[in-house]
Amino acid sequence: MDIKKVCVVGAGLMGNGIAQVCAQAGYEVTLRDIEQRFVDKGMATIRKNLERAVKKGKMVQADMDAVLDRITPTLELKEAAAGADVVVEVIIEVMDVKKALYEELSGIVSADCLFFTNTSGLSITELAAVTDRPEKFIGTHFFNPVPVMKLLEIIRGYQTSDDTLAVARQWGESLGKEVIIVEEAPAFAVNRILCPMINEAFLVLGEGVASAEDIDKGMVLGCNHPIGPLALADLVGLDTMLHVMKGLHEEMGDKYMPAPYLKKLVRAGRLGRKTGKGVYDYT
Ligand code: 3HC
Repeated sequence: MDIKKVCVVGAGLMGNGIAQVCAQAGYEVTLRDIEQRFVDKGMATIRKNLERAVKKGKMVQADMDAVLDRITPTLELKEAAAGADVVVEVIIEVMDVKKALYEELSGIVSADCLFFTNTSGLSITELAAVTDRPEKFIGTHFFNPVPVMKLLEIIRGYQTSDDTLAVARQWGESLGKEVIIVEEAPAFAVNRILCPMINEAFLVLGEGVASAEDIDKGMVLGCNHPIGPLALADLVGLDTMLHVMKGLHEEMGDKYMPAPYLKKLVRAGRLGRKTGKGVYDYT
């Protein structure tokens, strides 16, 4: 199957990054969200990233204009999904909200259209089961910031076909990503390892063992991580972190219980860089 048009549903942190890399790879892209301000913010982020590349001499202005021309922002799901070869869903990490979207999409898209979900840890099999095409459904888990991070983790659901896997792999490679294939499991492979490590940093912080700065400095200088776990949580979004930990806790037991301090910050609306404040203050 030849993918030409990609419909990205969700213009947030990950969605706009996915739309950007797809447009840079030459795909025609629609970027849909439920409110104009979300779509505008997503497009502004893409523009800012491209402008930075132009300023650094990594891209010429004409290419930047062409990339932006390939992305059509919209609020209309029907319009966004019309003629799409694949829908990449990047909406809120809530099972019922995602299911409702897939039920709606099933009646809108063409029979051949594939569904790729960027969920950070929800069951691919369960999401696929509400659609009219579980064999055409697969997890494509990108990493933040999407234009920078090399990895695409592809997750097979119980009913995902070999053809869908092959197309997803080829598409990921066409975006310049290195692909790993994993079988479905709670939080898949990377987040299953990464998120409990970050959660542990919130426990250490909450217990007063060390300051946020020293925890992060310790992991950067002591373990060669590019940024510390708390700074990384701010980059990813504390709400996303909590969703992953709640999922792991529910499926795998108390070893994965979310850290109280992580919960407290989320309850306070301190979700990280995207809200201006998380563990650290970015305002
Ligand atoms: N969008 C696009 N490009 C960005 C960017 C962003 N948000 N942030 C940085 N960049 C680019 C810069 O333009 C620069 O590009 P260049 O090399 O072409 O000049 C390059 O990235 C390096 O940026 P900086 O020099 O400004 O800053 P750093 O050297 O500190 O790098 C970083 C920033 C790449 C984000 C680095 O801190 C890093 O690797 N952090 C760890 C990221 C990580 O682990 N991500 C995975 C999160 S887990 C996840 O997403 C899964 C989810 O399900 C939870």
